Amino acid sequence: MDYDKIHAVMGYLWSPLAAVSASWQGKDNAQIAVAIAAASIVPDRPRLIVQLYKTNLTHDLVVKSKSFAVNFLRKDQVELVHELGFSSGRDRDKLASIPYRAGPTRSPILKECLAYMDCRVVNAMDGGDMTAFLGEVVDGDTLSEAEPLFWHHLRTVMPQAWVQEWDTKIKREIEISRERMGKIRWGA
Ligand SMILES: Cc1cc2nc3c(=O)[nH]c(=O)nc-3n(C[C@H](O)[C@H](O)[C@H](O)COP(=O)(O)O)c2cc1C
Repeated sequence: MDYDKIHAVMGYLWSPLAAVSASWQGKDNAQIAVAIAAASIVPDRPRLIVQLYKTNLTHDLVVKSKSFAVNFLRKDQVELVHELGFSSGRDRDKLASIPYRAGPTRSPILKECLAYMDCRVVNAMDGGDMTAFLGEVVDGDTLSEAEPLFWHHLRTVMPQAWVQEWDTKIKREIEISRERMGKIRWGA
């Protein structure tokens, strides 16, 4: 497969960036995600699909709590992407200096964001290297009229040091995914 032939169209499929958060047994955490999609046509029963990689702490907290919150970021919240998306909550408390409260599912709701949705997981699909979680939105609000933050914009404003840090991280993760993505447990 020649990826160059579909690269541009694939880029249209990334969502605005969000901090996806979860909490289990007193451990609160959040990561950045770009793979989020609306998954319901019923206005009073909104649902989202969020794809999380199995290497992430957030993934494990979502599996255990069966809940997550999606906190969409404002265009100016570039720093938060570095705080939450370049390192793991396995190594440090990433939310220590970020103001948040617990939502109805106990998932962290950032006090500063564009909009949030607190979700209960109603199903999940194993992708080998990642899990696609289907979440029912139980609470949500829009906190700002600012523009959302997109990956293609972030890439143009990221400091050079972050670019190198990201390239190293993503190379390692692509290798892990390559090895795991064929190992799907159907119906698990
Ligand atoms: C711009 C950007 C987009 C990302 N999109 C996703 C995503 O859609 N799904 C995912 O699982 N990880 C995504 N990540 C990677 C996680 O945010 C990252 O691996 C994080 O360190 C995991 O943290 P945790 O171990 O504390 O959960 C993204 C990272 C960045 C910077």
